[in-house]
Amino acid sequence: MDLSDLRSVAAEAPWYAPQGDECTLFQHAAGCGLPLLIKGPTGCGKTRFVEHMAHVLQRPLITVSCHDDLSAADLVGRHLIAGGDTVWSDGPLTRAVRQGAICYLDEVVEARKDTTVVLHPLADDRRVLPIERTGELIPAAPGFMLVISYNPGYQNVLKGLKPSTRQRFVALDFGYPAPEVERAIVATEGGVDAATAQRLVALAQALRRLTEHDLEETASTRLLVMAARLHASGLPLRSAVRAAIVQALSDEPDTVAALEEVVLAVLG
Ligand SMILES: Nc1ncnc2c1ncn2[C@@H]1O[C@H](COP(=O)(O)OP(=O)(O)O)[C@@H](O)[C@H]1O
Ligand SMILES: [Mg+2]
Repeated sequence: MDLSDLRSVAAEAPWYAPQGDECTLFQHAAGCGLPLLIKGPTGCGKTRFVEHMAHVLQRPLITVSCHDDLSAADLVGRHLIAGGDTVWSDGPLTRAVRQGAICYLDEVVEARKDTTVVLHPLADDRRVLPIERTGELIPAAPGFMLVISYNPGYQNVLKGLKPSTRQRFVALDFGYPAPEVERAIVATEGGVDAATAQRLVALAQALRRLTEHDLEETASTRLLVMAARLHASGLPLRSAVRAAIVQALSDEPDTVAALEEVVLAVLG
């Protein structure tokens, strides 16, 4: 593929506004067969980035949202009973390994600890997936790439990634996009004009500076886009912000009141 082909593929890919040089880094990691770890708070663009890059690199994307009950068998596969027979059924990770797809494990630290056993041999030079139940050792097809994300902000020591796991990955640190990038995202994804996008981003910056209330999360790009969409559909901006941002961030009456004060100060 030459450069003009790549450009036209990128044009049709899910729209992604880069924060820095992450697109180039992803391409190099993919080219080197290295797995990638994306750190960052929820709603800052990680999923959109991976969807965009999968499209640019023309690889299938298999996404798994990890949760605390997700086991190695959920990723790798299991024997199923079908009409009296036992048949093996590949899990999403195994399908990605066979197809040479990008496998994106979202919020990987949520998954049960036994999952790291299957990820390690895939994430280093071996690039193989051992399937304990069948005794198979599947070499990853060319093009296979393991991408994991996690949110270091939760500060859950127990749930942190072990050094032996994280040192197998090239790491990329995502924050919220810079104001000018975030304004473009809110305008494009939220369908609002530049002036409204500017007000919402100014609000997000003020909310992100609030530290005295221990909010588990702060106003993310995703919440701004949601507020913008509600407003674009005809809801007054204050109501859209209350529903999409303020009430989404806290259930504590005192905290909600403090957030409302910031909204009033910024939006008037
Ligand atoms: N860099 C970006 N380019 C385009 N859209 C973005 C970007 N960052 C965030 N968004 C918007 O915010 C939403 C949430 O982003 P997402 O990728 O789902 O966040 P995360 O996976 O980090 O939780 C997306 O659906 C998109 O509308
Ligand atoms: Mg996501």
